[in-house]
Amino acid sequence: MRIDFQEVVTSTNDILLEEHPKEDMALVAFRQTKGKGRKGREFFSPSNTGLYMSLILHPECNVQDAIKLTTIMAVAACRAIEKYDDSVIKIKWVNDLYKNEQKISGILTECSPNIVDGIPEYLVVGIGINVYAPDEGFPLDIMNKAGALFDVMKEDIRKDLAISIVDEFEKIYASFPDCDYEDEYIERSMLIGRDVYIVGGDKVRVINIDSNLGLVVMHENGDVETLTAGEVSLSLK
Ligand code: BTN
Repeated sequence: MRIDFQEVVTSTNDILLEEHPKEDMALVAFRQTKGKGRKGREFFSPSNTGLYMSLILHPECNVQDAIKLTTIMAVAACRAIEKYDDSVIKIKWVNDLYKNEQKISGILTECSPNIVDGIPEYLVVGIGINVYAPDEGFPLDIMNKAGALFDVMKEDIRKDLAISIVDEFEKIYASFPDCDYEDEYIERSMLIGRDVYIVGGDKVRVINIDSNLGLVVMHENGDVETLTAGEVSLSLK
């Protein structure tokens, strides 16, 4: 697909949602002035260090399948990053990437306002990656959990990394919605066997991720429940 590169934009997700080009394409920026995270949060998007990219897609699928786009992007980005870094990149269900227990990337998938017969007109999958550590450090509210792929920039790999992510995404997406990537998503999960907190709720132990990528958890009273993406947020502490 076509990839447009811009130095600075408001938000790559917002631009594709507003302009909604008819063909699938990627928009890459190296700084965002209004980077968005999940739940209306800001996504720290400073210059010179990060990669901010969104894909607009027209898959003619139902909303349930559309949720897969987030997890496909997670696996694609892990594969692409590992071409440049020897570490193993892990996925914190459902849409965060971690290196050495620090969040280096987040993914936000958004849907067109138009949904006809249960099929969204288009979808936008955005990913932000802290490729290099920012000189000024991370903001106070995220400094405990945020990290970067590399401490310093020896050479700037961000453009190549963006191309690689699109390439890996397209390999999986070619057979959408029957893609074969779930086992890798599960293998890369950093949560299985760990205790996590459901935001605003219980501490639970993660037992497994099922083939629909639901998170199977056990509550302290022994009750087992499967959480689906979009329902809950989890925190590690
Ligand atoms: C999160 O961690 O809550 C998700 C963050 C998603 C950030 C990316 S950066 C590219 C795209 N444009 C945005 O405004 N947000 C996404």
